[in-house]
Amino acid sequence: MNICPADSTEPDSRPKTQCCLLGSIHRFLVVTYESIMQCLFLLPRYPVCNWIKASFLRLRGAKIGRRVIFYPGVWIAPANNLVIGDDVDLALGVLIVTTGNVTIGPRTLIGYRTQILSQNHAIPDSRERIFDAGCRPEPIVIEQDAWIGANCLILAGVTIGEGAVVAGGSVVTKSVEPFSVVGGSPAKVIRRRDELASN
Ligand SMILES: CC(C)(COP(=O)(O)OP(=O)(O)OC[C@H]1O[C@@H](n2cnc3c(N)ncnc32)[C@H](O)[C@@H]1OP(=O)(O)O)[C@@H](O)C(=O)NCCC(=O)NCCS
Repeated sequence: MNICPADSTEPDSRPKTQCCLLGSIHRFLVVTYESIMQCLFLLPRYPVCNWIKASFLRLRGAKIGRRVIFYPGVWIAPANNLVIGDDVDLALGVLIVTTGNVTIGPRTLIGYRTQILSQNHAIPDSRERIFDAGCRPEPIVIEQDAWIGANCLILAGVTIGEGAVVAGGSVVTKSVEPFSVVGGSPAKVIRRRDELASN
C-alpha cells in the first residue's frame, strides 16, 4: 500500500511526540498487514486457500461474496472499504488499492496484473510539494458481469457499467457505459455489445 504522508488536511492539535508515536504504530500495523497478506496471497487457488484469503480480508472489514477466486500474487490493501460479489475472479498479480472504496459486482472477471487504484496523490496548483499535499481517495465501482482484460489501470472515481468489457492494456480514466467495449489509453469506446445483436 502506498503510504500517504498527509492523509488529512486538518491541522493536528496533538503534541508532536504523540503524533510521531501514533504514526510509527500505524506504519508498523500497515506493514504487518501487508506482510501477512502478501504471504497468504501467494497460496494457490484451491477452494480452501480462497476461503482463507477471503476470511483474512473479512477480518479487515471487507465484504467478500461466495466462491471468489484469488489467483496467487493478488495484492489488496488496506482491504477495508472493499466489497466483492459472488463468483468474482481475480487473476494472477491483480492489485487493488481500496482507500477510496472499491466495489466489484458479482461474476466480474479481472485479468492478469490489472491495477485498481482508488486514490491519487493531490497535485497542488502551485509549486508546493506533492509530498505534503495529501491524498484524494475516490470510489471505484465495477458493476456485475464486467470483464476487465489483462494489464489494465482503473483510476479513482470511475464506474465500469454492467457487462462492460475493458480491452487488455487499457487505462480507464472515465466511467464506462454498461455493455460497451472500451480500449486504449485513455480508454475509448470500441463498440457496444448490443450493436451486433440489433443488426
Ligand atoms: C477487446 C478484445 C476483447 C476484442 O474485442 P472485439 O470486440 O472482438 O474487438 P476487435 O478485435 O474486433 O477490435 C475492434 C477494434 O478495437 C481495437 N482493439 C482491440 N483490442 C484492443 C486493445 N487491447 N486496446 C486497444 N484497442 C484494441 C482493434 O484494433 C480494433 O480497432 P479498429 O476498429 O480501429 O481496427 C480483445 O482485443 C482484448 O483486448 N482482449 C483482452 C485479452 C486479455 O486480457 N486476456 C486475459 C484474460 S483475463
